[in-house]
Amino acid sequence: MLNWFGKNEVEKDILSPNGQICCRFILKSGEISYEVFKNGKPVINKSKLGFLISGETPFDHNLKLIREQKKKHTETIEMLWGEDRYIPNDYIESSFYLAENKEPKRIFTMRFRVFDNGVAFRYEIPAQPKFSQISIEDELTEFNFDLNSLVWEIPAYQPDRYEYNYEKTFAYTLKNSVHTPMTLKTPKGCYAALHEAALYDYGSMTIRLNDNGKLQSDITPLSDGTKAHVLLPFQTPWRVIMLADSAIELTTNRMIYVLNDPPAGDFSWVKTLKFIGIWWAMYVGEWTWAPGERHGATTTHTKEYIDAAVRLGISGLLIEGWNDGWEGDWLENGVHNKFTVATEDFDLEEVTNYARSKEIEIVGHHETVGFIDNYESQLEEAYDYYAKNNIHYIKTGYAGSMMTINGHREYHHSQLGVRHYQKTVELAAKKHICLDIHEPIKGTGIERTWPNLLSREGARGQEYEGGALSPSHACYLPYTRLLAGGMDYTSGIFDLENSVKRISTTLARQLAYFVTIYSGMQMAADRPFIYEERFHDEFDFIKMVPTNFERTIPIAGEIGEYYVVARKDYNTNDWYIGGVTDENARNVYIKLDFLDNKSYKASIFADSEDAHYRDNQFGVIKQEKTVGKNDNLDIYMAPGGGFAIKLECLD
Ligand code: NOJ
Repeated sequence: MLNWFGKNEVEKDILSPNGQICCRFILKSGEISYEVFKNGKPVINKSKLGFLISGETPFDHNLKLIREQKKKHTETIEMLWGEDRYIPNDYIESSFYLAENKEPKRIFTMRFRVFDNGVAFRYEIPAQPKFSQISIEDELTEFNFDLNSLVWEIPAYQPDRYEYNYEKTFAYTLKNSVHTPMTLKTPKGCYAALHEAALYDYGSMTIRLNDNGKLQSDITPLSDGTKAHVLLPFQTPWRVIMLADSAIELTTNRMIYVLNDPPAGDFSWVKTLKFIGIWWAMYVGEWTWAPGERHGATTTHTKEYIDAAVRLGISGLLIEGWNDGWEGDWLENGVHNKFTVATEDFDLEEVTNYARSKEIEIVGHHETVGFIDNYESQLEEAYDYYAKNNIHYIKTGYAGSMMTINGHREYHHSQLGVRHYQKTVELAAKKHICLDIHEPIKGTGIERTWPNLLSREGARGQEYEGGALSPSHACYLPYTRLLAGGMDYTSGIFDLENSVKRISTTLARQLAYFVTIYSGMQMAADRPFIYEERFHDEFDFIKMVPTNFERTIPIAGEIGEYYVVARKDYNTNDWYIGGVTDENARNVYIKLDFLDNKSYKASIFADSEDAHYRDNQFGVIKQEKTVGKNDNLDIYMAPGGGFAIKLECLD
């Protein structure tokens, strides 16, 4: 239906380049919605779009379509580092320019991009008379999946941020909001993940079941109860629906990167890094963060660790507990942390000069405990202090259940939290510093634009071992958290049976993590003396495994059960394969048909038949053989186990 100023009723199908995914945009009776189909079958039923804006009439009805713009885009983007160097960015885009047909006659645009592996859309609100600064009361975006879909989720708004065990449940049972990426399997067998891309200066999206029984975006609120205060023009992050026919196919969905902008400048100085650290010794109670008899970060210990890094062939060293602020209850007292004042037994200049002479990169550490007002008051000075001392990597931390910003308690994943993290990334970029953020904001692909953001935590890592991690945890991550990008899981603990933090894996699985859990800053987390004392072949694998890959091929897996992946080194023709399993033993059959027509020396670290994460963790079988693309490998994984393979190209 068309009248002189626009269309009131519209139904437009946007097909993906291969025609298999369809997003239908609907304007009916002045309201807008969308549907998604895969291979002709509905995946997302009619879902509402719109906003509630404080002090204004709702922005979701009385709408008409002014104009539609359609384009086809074909491109391959190149990443500076990561799991895949080249990523296709092929989509059909339709933008619907909408206006209210009654006062206040506001306008906005819905932009959709339909890819062969998913759908993305965002709201774009231009600046307009009497509408230049708005407070978002609610975003009304629905994702109307069949409520009999299975979902894999962690709860939102909890004290430990993203650090929870994944739950498998039915969508209709969701009581509270959950974080994204949220992974689903529909009753018809379609796999999907809901997430967002390019999250800037806006509350992060969580998902809840609304009163109409539909999944809906729930934007993290600010302490004043609104969701975000924005200046127009403004665009929301992309709402991303990843789609796949199998769980394993989902794991290499890279939509979040292509939906972000290219690098914001020259980042050729950014280098991925493998590092050891003055770290696990604190977790097992040998050393302390705080000064005292067992203080870890002393000048002497640091120099010893630098020497160890040289002997081990590892390029970096993290130093935690070097600065003023760890005394007493550091979680409570962190409000006074100083980021340019070292403890009395630590000399930063001496240590960094020594590190430079040994060609070891120091990874500095800022534990903010979420006291953002304190941190931001020192930010510029603190980054300069590190830059001046030749430190090009910082691990930041935001322990604590909430952040303190402008004197208010705010969620880490609120608009103000998002804004703070971004400030650190941009300042670090200016000073040529790379970041590894713990207790971070979730990844939304901004590493494409800011490649100095090399890694984050943002899920339970190995520090939860000693009781709070089951073998299935690392089998959930590739299908959930890791859809949001790399993670600093702190892999490679060899002292599995230690009494303080007993690890629930086999030894071979500790090697597997370096392949199954990608991180641009990858930590070999155990104490160096453990690596030097035993398991030299195993450590050699850790030393050799790259932190930057050219290509990733998902091999096999099911959510929470197992995961097997192959990755090609960025710099050589070598490949690495890793696999992990839950409490159940299983064999995996790997066809090597992805290899080039060349010979490869396979060095295999696999669980022995009698290995077990509970009582025989060190049962490893090492094997070497020559293989080619016509060969297959049949590998056994013990309960809580895994395997790691290096395929060294011989031609
Ligand atoms: C939690 C981080 O995940 C961990 O790596 C760090 O050691 C502590 N906070 C202290 O900053």
